[in-house]
Amino acid sequence: EKTVAVAIDGPAGAGKSSTARQVALELGMTYIDTGAMYRALTWLALEKEVSTRDEEGLHRLLKNMALELVTGTGTDRVIVDGTDVTEAIREPRVTAEVSYTAVHEKIRQAMVEKQRELASQGSVVMDGRDIGTAVLPDAELKFYLTASVEERAARRFAEEKKKGIPSELEQLKKEIAERDRIDSEREFAPLTKAEDAEEVDTTAMEFEEVVQFLINRIGSRV
Ligand code: C5P
Repeated sequence: EKTVAVAIDGPAGAGKSSTARQVALELGMTYIDTGAMYRALTWLALEKEVSTRDEEGLHRLLKNMALELVTGTGTDRVIVDGTDVTEAIREPRVTAEVSYTAVHEKIRQAMVEKQRELASQGSVVMDGRDIGTAVLPDAELKFYLTASVEERAARRFAEEKKKGIPSELEQLKKEIAERDRIDSEREFAPLTKAEDAEEVDTTAMEFEEVVQFLINRIGSRV
């Protein structure tokens, strides 16, 4: 049976994860959230008081970390060494540090290896920053999801409000822009649109519209 890979990249808060998850669910594919993998390692580093600037220290943690991405159940879970960190990896303290974890070459190499292994097991929708450019350069379909930074901050603000987390719009905007800057300027596999990726500007699109757009594109290929 032929397997298909869909790569979704783009800046922070463009709706990649929720879109990718829904597309995968509707098409019966496996969703792989690579951001959750960098977040899981960052969470563990904070727990173990290893600096995110310490490449060797992070690498040692990663080698011994048991990471489980439970997906396809409608309620995705992320498990690190037996602890459910699904909510914890979204906390601001992790978000503020994760881009520093993700600059290191050794860390990226190890993550990419895991990601390719996951993708080899069946049809996947994988989202991140370097999927179309580095992880799965031969993916059948590649999308680059964007939205204005104002819109991305506004969506994040609405999400936090729904979860009852107090936040400030201006602060969220700054954080998103800063994360994009670090992710775009890093040396190894920076955030950039793959040449053969289709850019989808979702600024004026509803969530369901984006999902339908991608499903139409993927169409008969799965
Ligand atoms: O997608 P999410 O916002 O959860 O990703 C968190 C961070 O993980 C990104 O800001 C980026 O620094 C890093 N990341 C990465 N490569 C990926 C996925 C995420 O560098 N493929």
